[in-house]
Amino acid sequence: MLNRFITMQRRNPYPLYWLLRRVQPVLHFSRYDLWFATRYDDVKKVLADYEHFSSDFRRAFRPGEELDQSSKVSLIASDPPVHTKLRGLMTKAFTPKAVASLEGRIGELTHELLDQVDAVGQMDLVQELAYPLPVMVIAEMLGVPAADRGQFKVWSDAVVRSADDIFSTAQDAQGNREGSDAPLGAGEMGRYFAEIIKQRRAVPQNDLISGLVAAEMDGEKLSEWDLLDFCSLLLVAGNVTTTNLISNAVLLFLQHRDALEAVRENPALLPDAIEEVLRFRSPVQFMFRISSAETELGGRIVPPEQRVIALIGSANRDESQFEHANRFDISRKPNRHIAFGQGVHYCLGAPLARLEARVALNILLERLPNLARSRSGALPPTDGVILHGVKNLPVRWDARPKVVTV
Ligand code: HEM
Repeated sequence: MLNRFITMQRRNPYPLYWLLRRVQPVLHFSRYDLWFATRYDDVKKVLADYEHFSSDFRRAFRPGEELDQSSKVSLIASDPPVHTKLRGLMTKAFTPKAVASLEGRIGELTHELLDQVDAVGQMDLVQELAYPLPVMVIAEMLGVPAADRGQFKVWSDAVVRSADDIFSTAQDAQGNREGSDAPLGAGEMGRYFAEIIKQRRAVPQNDLISGLVAAEMDGEKLSEWDLLDFCSLLLVAGNVTTTNLISNAVLLFLQHRDALEAVRENPALLPDAIEEVLRFRSPVQFMFRISSAETELGGRIVPPEQRVIALIGSANRDESQFEHANRFDISRKPNRHIAFGQGVHYCLGAPLARLEARVALNILLERLPNLARSRSGALPPTDGVILHGVKNLPVRWDARPKVVTV
């Protein structure tokens, strides 16, 4: 029931967010025992205050249970001090230098993808560019064959779907996850990465998995479980999110021709335009936390062990933070959006996502003259309640005939 309502809202959740911020900024949905934070300051607090709002999602499905804090907890689902150690080790391999060095390769991959459609004059932007590009980039970065990317999509979609569990009761969620909740390493994706990790231990390469295997801090290294977790996290976190950033950007540019012409004429405007896309149509609409102690939030008392949804998509449209918040303005300054989160879990891949979007959009605008939507009407929302984007975006442009040399 709630899921159906959410699906309806997913195309345009903003009027509902607006209403909630005004009348019930911290809402307790008692039927599902869920709390929603919608105002900028409250959302920031939920994301950043790990002492009161834990990221340990296991609590959501096993309320009251004593949890093993010592190991086998994912980076994204851990709290300090475990999180501090994991993040420190992972940052050693996932460096800004490694990301920056990818710029040329991202350009080549974008050109390769556009070469396949350039002369045709039309494509589904999501399926033919925005989806394959981030998968190819992360596959190369990790050092796994790009040819396996069809398989990555299957795994990635399954993980995205599992996040929908947050809207189930503890009992339903347990039912949904039966059979698919195999320990990391036992499932197909785990076995796939376990084999590559084994190969890199034997013969290190110049790739991220080799870097992760070698990373060491205070004499400690990542365990096999941590390595598997990080590979799958990157594969999923780094993919669909960036897909939605690129397709949301194109969609917004097509709806705001003045912005499109401005960035086409002056690509130096693109980085700020991308920040505005991140604010205006945030690819990740929310993250959730579990309250670990009784806490005040927006004037309400949240009891312990409650699931709290921090609505990033709403925070980024909060009028108290952003003047004319519902206006898409690529010259907005300052633009303190929280599309990449806030606090210790701030997105590790933000520089990569920004780089991919900048390079891909730049090439796209340069190569495809008179870009426009090829069909009007509502577009299907992307899968996974956590994400905001479109599943398809058919576009057309003035095709240049292919030059055939004899
Ligand atoms: C537009 C694209 C992206 C968006 C909107 C996005 C959004 C986010 C958000 C909101 C968080 C915070 C999670 C929390 O507070 O619980 C996060 C964390 C994370 N993101 Fe991203 N992300 C994007 C791209 C990427 C990419 C490209 C990668 C890597 C290749 C990546 C890897 C991660 C990781 C590893 C974390 C967990 C960090 C931690 O727990 O310390 N993300 N992301």
